[in-house]
Amino acid sequence: MNILIVLGHPDSGSFNHAIAEACKERLLENGHTVIFHDLHKETFDPILEKEEISRDGLADPVIKRHCEELLSSDGIIVIHPNWWGQPPAILKGWIDRVIRPGIAYKFEEGDSGEGVPVGLLKAKTGLVFNTSNTNAERENLLFKDPLETIWKNCIFDFCGVKQFDRRMFRIIVTSDLQQRKIWLEEVKEMMDQYFPKAVKEGIPEGKLFE
Ligand SMILES: Cc1cc2nc3c(=O)[nH]c(=O)nc-3n(C[C@H](O)[C@H](O)[C@H](O)COP(=O)(O)O)c2cc1C
Repeated sequence: MNILIVLGHPDSGSFNHAIAEACKERLLENGHTVIFHDLHKETFDPILEKEEISRDGLADPVIKRHCEELLSSDGIIVIHPNWWGQPPAILKGWIDRVIRPGIAYKFEEGDSGEGVPVGLLKAKTGLVFNTSNTNAERENLLFKDPLETIWKNCIFDFCGVKQFDRRMFRIIVTSDLQQRKIWLEEVKEMMDQYFPKAVKEGIPEGKLFE
């Protein structure tokens, strides 16, 4: 399977990076093709300019490549910290520029844009890993867990990706090494659950594109 990993975190020593590495490692072990984007390392430009908004405004070669990769993915994994209940700006910009009309979704013929969209992504599975410093009760009751709504409803379901799972690791600031190791094992188990080895014997070698 082709699995796209998109990471939005500026610090290569962060737990978010450790999550991304754990995903990558296990997916390769399982014989999948991994397309890995560390948006900060790539200095991804998150600004959606006026010319790019319209359906036929896709011209930037970097964004074209991201769109092609998105379209070819069987699974999509997004990893980022909770920043004000939202993804960091660099990842928000990736959403704005890459999850585009005509690529990720469309409206039916004759629809003025206010109807129910049709998802265009062929990916069956969308997984999101988040980190935060807020306990679950406070996140759910006070803030209504905005990241769940953003990724599950506003993005993956909207674009036709029906199998969705999300894991929020908390509380990062007080977690110790032992806890983090356990969490990383959970990440690997989720890779096995959603993207298992393709065949029992003669597993193809995993391929990495960065
Ligand atoms: C700009 C900014 C905004 C943040 N907003 C929140 C927030 O709304 N809720 C929360 O629980 N943590 C918030 N945090 C804390 C981060 O979620 C936390 O530092 C991160 O998840 C830790 O993971 P890491 O070690 O991989 O960076 C924020 C941190 C920053 C830098």
